[in-house]
Amino acid sequence: MIPVKIKDDVYSLRANDWDRKLFDELVPLPDGTSYNSYLIKGGEKTALIDTVYPPKTAAFIAALKASGVETIDYIVANHAELDHAGSIPAALELFPKAKVVANARCWRMMCDAMPLDRSAFLEIKDGQRLPLGGKTLRFVFMPWVHWPETMGVFLEEDRIFFPCDFLGAHLAASELTVGDEAQFEIAAKRYYAEIMAPYRIQCRSALARVEELEPEIVAPSHGPVHAKPKLILDLYRRWTSDEVKPEVVIVYASMYHSTTAMVERLTDRLMEKGLTVRLFNAVDLDSGALSMALVDASTVVFASPTVLTGPHPSVAYAAILANALAPKARFAAMIGSYGWGTTMPDGLRELLREFKAEFFEPVLAKGAPNAETFAAIDALAEAIVAANADLAKSGWTAPVA
Ligand code: FEO
Repeated sequence: MIPVKIKDDVYSLRANDWDRKLFDELVPLPDGTSYNSYLIKGGEKTALIDTVYPPKTAAFIAALKASGVETIDYIVANHAELDHAGSIPAALELFPKAKVVANARCWRMMCDAMPLDRSAFLEIKDGQRLPLGGKTLRFVFMPWVHWPETMGVFLEEDRIFFPCDFLGAHLAASELTVGDEAQFEIAAKRYYAEIMAPYRIQCRSALARVEELEPEIVAPSHGPVHAKPKLILDLYRRWTSDEVKPEVVIVYASMYHSTTAMVERLTDRLMEKGLTVRLFNAVDLDSGALSMALVDASTVVFASPTVLTGPHPSVAYAAILANALAPKARFAAMIGSYGWGTTMPDGLRELLREFKAEFFEPVLAKGAPNAETFAAIDALAEAIVAANADLAKSGWTAPVA
């Protein structure tokens, strides 16, 4: 971990975590991640923006010592989550006179998670400025991207915005700034889908605040720095919009191939009509890939056999996840086979309470699908195609939740 200059007296202190495979024991990290702190040396005061994940504390402290900085006056905590705030106690140990600069809610949340002395706290309000001598920090509250206390910092003279989690990406990289834009877009979409999508409306508000600032550089606390912020701002404008694409996401599990046969029939009929279909086997689910597909899809289909009166547990898990992500899908359906009870759709629907989509009539098969089942699947495909065609006439837009 080495300090890398961004602008005069502004440095990135990035702790790459190349090997981390899972975040929060939930979010897959195919490209690892990074925890980014930033060092700003003003003429009179020196500030740190965020710290790093506790397993990286030793490297972080060593990099701070190696940077030659003699003192830190302010440690700005944009967010209380420990992958950013978790090394504050160690930084305070090294620089005991430093003040922890945070909003009141962030301070309370950090105190819930680790020992901090109240005397170290410097509370700031939305829009407040903190001069460092030739460099000025302005605090921009952006609640619920993705916790209630989240905020960002604008370094006015250098026009650098530090949004912490917002606009970030789980991507370990040696380059300071975004290199391969195509690779970055995939990582950024995965990150948005898994972390920010449930707060789509709040993200829109935060995005508007960032755009008002017209930053020349955006420096998030995960992934590369944006030397050309237009890329990430354009992506967030699209993902947070009400627009959906004519895409059908099908999440399925099958025990004796009956539900699979129904899924295959539905997929063929939808493809014949030109709709994009994305299939996810819930038994071996990449939850990140499913989350990404849900960002734009107009339609989601859950396909499950009946297991002990409810959906297959793997499909139930996918449904719980999809429900939590609050996708902007306009249409949804449930299909599957059963042995003797027809309550699977009721159990599944209960797990999809937050889905704002219009649900089509479920299609069920007793045992293996027969001609009647396939006719019902064909009718469902026609209904999905017609609904998407109607949506296309209105410009593929979904209403605000
Ligand atoms: Fe990267 Fe919400 O922490």
